[in-house]
Amino acid sequence: MKLIRIPTLRSADEFRTQLDALGLGIPCDPSILTAPDSPLASPVPALHINGKSPGNRWCIQPMEGWDAHPDGSPSDDVLRRWRRFGESGAKLTFGGEAMAVRPDARANPNQLILSEANTGPLSRLREALVQTHTDLHGSHADLVVGFQLTHSGRFCRPNDKRRFEPRVAFRHPILDQRFAVTRDDQVFTDSELDDLIADFVRAARVAWNAGADFVDIKHCHGYLLHEFLAAHTRPGRYGGSFENRTRLLRAIVEGIRADRNPIGIAVRLSAFDFVPFTPDPALSQPGKPGPGIPADTSACLPYRFGFGVNPANPVQPDLLEAQRFAELCADLGIRLLNLSAGSPYYNPHIQRPAAYPPSDGYQPPEDPLVGVARQLQATRAIRQHLLQTRPDTRPAIIGTGYSYLQEYLPHVAQAAVRDGWTDFVGLGRMVLSYPTLPSDVLSRAALTPRLICRTFSDCTTAPRNGLPSGCYPLDDAYKARPEARVLRDIKRGNPPQP
Ligand SMILES: Cc1cc2nc3c(=O)[nH]c(=O)nc-3n(C[C@H](O)[C@H](O)[C@H](O)COP(=O)(O)O)c2cc1C
Repeated sequence: MKLIRIPTLRSADEFRTQLDALGLGIPCDPSILTAPDSPLASPVPALHINGKSPGNRWCIQPMEGWDAHPDGSPSDDVLRRWRRFGESGAKLTFGGEAMAVRPDARANPNQLILSEANTGPLSRLREALVQTHTDLHGSHADLVVGFQLTHSGRFCRPNDKRRFEPRVAFRHPILDQRFAVTRDDQVFTDSELDDLIADFVRAARVAWNAGADFVDIKHCHGYLLHEFLAAHTRPGRYGGSFENRTRLLRAIVEGIRADRNPIGIAVRLSAFDFVPFTPDPALSQPGKPGPGIPADTSACLPYRFGFGVNPANPVQPDLLEAQRFAELCADLGIRLLNLSAGSPYYNPHIQRPAAYPPSDGYQPPEDPLVGVARQLQATRAIRQHLLQTRPDTRPAIIGTGYSYLQEYLPHVAQAAVRDGWTDFVGLGRMVLSYPTLPSDVLSRAALTPRLICRTFSDCTTAPRNGLPSGCYPLDDAYKARPEARVLRDIKRGNPPQP
């Protein structure tokens, strides 16, 4: 595959031509509008979270840094990242970053923990974002900030960055081998799940006490609650039927309300999934992974180990259950539904389309614009479905996967909101290199090219190798860190000796 790199395109017209050449029908405006004319500048009608209505359509996606203190409280690096979220001008911060509901639920020993002891530090973290936003953008009356609640499930590494200590929903024919699941007692029992529900409820209370407007009950990226949605083969109350596979969400929401916690409730969902991918061994060389190919599933068809995937052809989305899940969210009074896809651990190209793979990834098996379009189209389909089935109670939708669009992110974002493909435009990797993109778009309809994320994937490669995440290529603070040199060596195939 010959990839046409986005920076080689000279105009929105050329970008449009490239979309057409790939057969991708996604909306794209010819030019960028400023506020108040931009569709990105106005609030979503009738959306209130904790009494506030987010003042524009930009959303900061959760972006963790693998850089909190070992007790799960924020470090200076976490504070800096959240201040930059505040600088952005985006009026919705969806989760900030993954925060573990208990210590053994962490994806790494430097993940934030929602413990009572961390209430003060987390409150100051939120305050740092709000204060920065207020200083630069005048008001926080229309700024909404939530916390993302997680159990990392199959990807738990709570004690040692290099040692998985997985807890899973079911035995998986492909992933078990890759992520150190060897025994049935690593599968959560139904009675252990009662404790887990209580942990989510308690964590939501900590979030409220720390000033969060809402909590995201995270159901994405292969982490525990997302995996439960795929627990077709699990016996008992939490597996099999759709009702059983969504029992945890219902129980957590009921628990938060029974606790008389008035906090808003949101969900981030991987709306579709594919089977795990690996580099094609025939086209790989040492230190140079080949293009991704799907795992051989011939022995496990129909594929019953994913959510939102066609069981007969598990490299095709099937949105029926995601649409049903979106209806359930509406019925539970959930006001925000953030749609993502797949998992960064086993099929990163569908989750965060990139020109350059992370160190544990593979070369793009498709033009990354195809991955962007897949997420945009799924988001549009689910939003349209809700407009038809739950017109009055539907959650507002946040779309994901825009960073690869680079120069043309604003053109697509603006058209996507105006044409009803999404309610909010979520920004992930782009905010690490270029936090003020949202305010630059709305105030001057122009970008600073040297800050645009080029999807080098260093923000993923670094944590995969035990280093904190950040934008090492473009953010001066990370360029200057000693870890930047270590990362360069890793990318050249010379990992540091233990
Ligand atoms: C370094 C890094 C950290 C991330 N941390 C989280 C996280 O804590 N929670 C989450 O739901 N998604 C996380 N994501 C996924 C992003 O929120 C987002 O879905 C993804 O990067 C695709 O959006 P983009 O194209 O704008 O980057 C992370 C992604 C990256 C690259």
